[in-house]
Amino acid sequence: MPRPTSRYVCSACGAVAPKWAGRCEACGAWNTIVEEAAEALPGPAARGITGGRKIAFVPLAGESAPPPRTPFDIAELDRVLGGGLVPASVVLVGGDPGIGKSTLLLQAAARLAAGGARALYISGEESVEQVRLRASRLGLAAAPLALAAATSLRDIAASLEAERGVALVVIDSIQTMWLDALESAPGTVAQVRACAAELIRLAKSRGFALVVVGHVTKEGAIAGPRVLEHMVDAVLYFEGERGHAFRILRAVKNRFGATDEIGVFEMTDRGLVEVANPSALFLAERRGNVAGSAVFAGVEGTRPVLVEVQALLSPSPGGSPRRAVVGWDQGRLAMLLAVLETRAGLALSGADVYLNIAGGLRITEPAADLAVAAALASAATGRPTDASMVFFGEVGLSGEVRLVSQAEARLKEAAKLGFTAAALPRRPSAKGRALAVPQGLAAWEVGHVSDLVA
Ligand code: TYD
Ligand code: MG
Repeated sequence: MPRPTSRYVCSACGAVAPKWAGRCEACGAWNTIVEEAAEALPGPAARGITGGRKIAFVPLAGESAPPPRTPFDIAELDRVLGGGLVPASVVLVGGDPGIGKSTLLLQAAARLAAGGARALYISGEESVEQVRLRASRLGLAAAPLALAAATSLRDIAASLEAERGVALVVIDSIQTMWLDALESAPGTVAQVRACAAELIRLAKSRGFALVVVGHVTKEGAIAGPRVLEHMVDAVLYFEGERGHAFRILRAVKNRFGATDEIGVFEMTDRGLVEVANPSALFLAERRGNVAGSAVFAGVEGTRPVLVEVQALLSPSPGGSPRRAVVGWDQGRLAMLLAVLETRAGLALSGADVYLNIAGGLRITEPAADLAVAAALASAATGRPTDASMVFFGEVGLSGEVRLVSQAEARLKEAAKLGFTAAALPRRPSAKGRALAVPQGLAAWEVGHVSDLVA
């Protein structure tokens, strides 16, 4: 066994550094490198690997059934998982403290238990009384969910080994779990990794689905869930802006389904409520006829979502102008400003620019370019965009508007919400089948950003 000495580990990504540094070389995070005792569990490597059994190889060609699924009956959650929980799979749910992870998983586990499956909820953060109190507030007091407050992984492992027919185990949170074989404190990279490995082994051998909660902290004081991302089958992030009631569940990795799928919830005093029609919610507070506002017809995963893009320009008091962005990419905004200035003749470089995606949604699609350009052009000219129009399309460096995927889904959602016009990329005439434009919607094909301004 190697002599225990100390080593330096990044608490965000788990990379091992030879000495302490302010910034992790591997993931670029600041102030995340912490000193840890270098210790190794006595493993096969220490004993030499002998006595293995032969594995059987099979031809690649062959029938495999899709994995069976147990739906939670919470549509927003099931869709993000790819249609429900896969037995013996491991899901990591990450997010800021206080965002609602415990609430979501308590509701989900209770729902599954109410459907007759055996579900266990193990909390390392709250006492049984606290969880009960929360459950009664959520109206789940009568759910046949098995509850425990525990942090010792040795005890948890022994209890799970003795269980039969468990469908789901929730561990809230991985940072509170500890294995007494390791000297490091709970929450350190070594503990988080070892505890997760043991839980995953149990899930695979006992056949239950495991959902592990992991807090993300910017300070890196406790190990970030990124350490775990490669160990699990699916990684879901629970996000939301503080002060907003919306919570978005986003799949960033999923071995059994699509990523970039989102589920939308609203945090209420009775817990998380599914939002079946997020477009209506995101547009609810929109005021027509205001300069600097444009509605983007977006697609998140398989689902179209309309959101309002807001831009505000104000004269810069000199020096370098401010560019503040909420919900969109800073670099992309800089690019669009340059394109609008050079290709469409809008004078923007002397102004402070503020861009906001209303409602707290974070947009990553390049298709939002045209809506952002419309909002900026509208703010610059003081003329409101047509309030009954949606925008989508990617903008290139020469100002050309490029085609984006799923145009028809976007148009359909816009028509459903009562919009009567859509600005979209011009389709080259050679480009196959004509676009199906819903009745009552006028399609305005835009070839260049300067057409927006004109
Ligand atoms: P929680 O699920 O404890 O967050 P996490 O596990 O991610 O740390 O959520 C805590 C917040 O949610 C807390 O600020 C209170 C709020 N909340 C509600 O608004 N309504 C509710 O019904 C519940 C249970 C919590
Ligand atoms: Mg919690």
